[in-house]
Amino acid sequence: MMEPLTIALSKGRILPQTVALFRRAGLEVPEDLDESRKLILPSADGRLRFILAKPVDVPTYVEYGAADLGVVGKDVLLEARRNLYELLDLGIGRCRMCLCGLPDLVWRTHRVASKYPHIAADYFRDQGKQVEVVYLNGSVELAPLVGLADAIVDLVETGRTLKENGLVIHEVIAPITTRMVANRMSFRLKGEAIDRVTQALQRVVGGGDSC
Ligand code: PRP
Repeated sequence: MMEPLTIALSKGRILPQTVALFRRAGLEVPEDLDESRKLILPSADGRLRFILAKPVDVPTYVEYGAADLGVVGKDVLLEARRNLYELLDLGIGRCRMCLCGLPDLVWRTHRVASKYPHIAADYFRDQGKQVEVVYLNGSVELAPLVGLADAIVDLVETGRTLKENGLVIHEVIAPITTRMVANRMSFRLKGEAIDRVTQALQRVVGGGDSC
């Protein structure tokens, strides 16, 4: 029996959609993967082994080869800057990385708050703008409302969080979707097994209408 292919899935928001996509692709996903507290779940046919990790940790598991494949948002990949192969756009978890703030954005503090400091810093470097990036771990929309920062760089999905807090999008920095990534060594050594999974998913991934 061949060693199973280890796939790191992101826990949380995109997990149910990821599981649905894998099942539609005919890939065997353990029954209880969504509800279980288990962190390692082998498929019944023994070909796949799923590990459940925090989204920000998925690129780490894959780069170090603890997982052969990973399913994670492009936001996390852009921020993590890990050395991985990006194999497939799964077309789920569709949202946008945006610069947001009050409608009359004024640069007072010259600070921007973000859970994505690298993405924010890259963006302002490209703009040739001198801005200090302040890292926050969540509820970033609060920062411009209380004077911690002039603006934020954050994900916008439905726009509801912005709307309910009186904020608007000033610029779309990047469209974001969930991607499948591979460890570089696994890609060479387990090419056949990885191809099987990639091709199965490719067949069911929706058309690439933009964000
Ligand atoms: C994300 C993101 C926004 C919100 C956008 O936060 O950071 O705050 O969702 O979604 P919307 O446009 O549909 O309102 P998340 O819920 O992951 O929590 P966090 O703020 O703690 O990161």
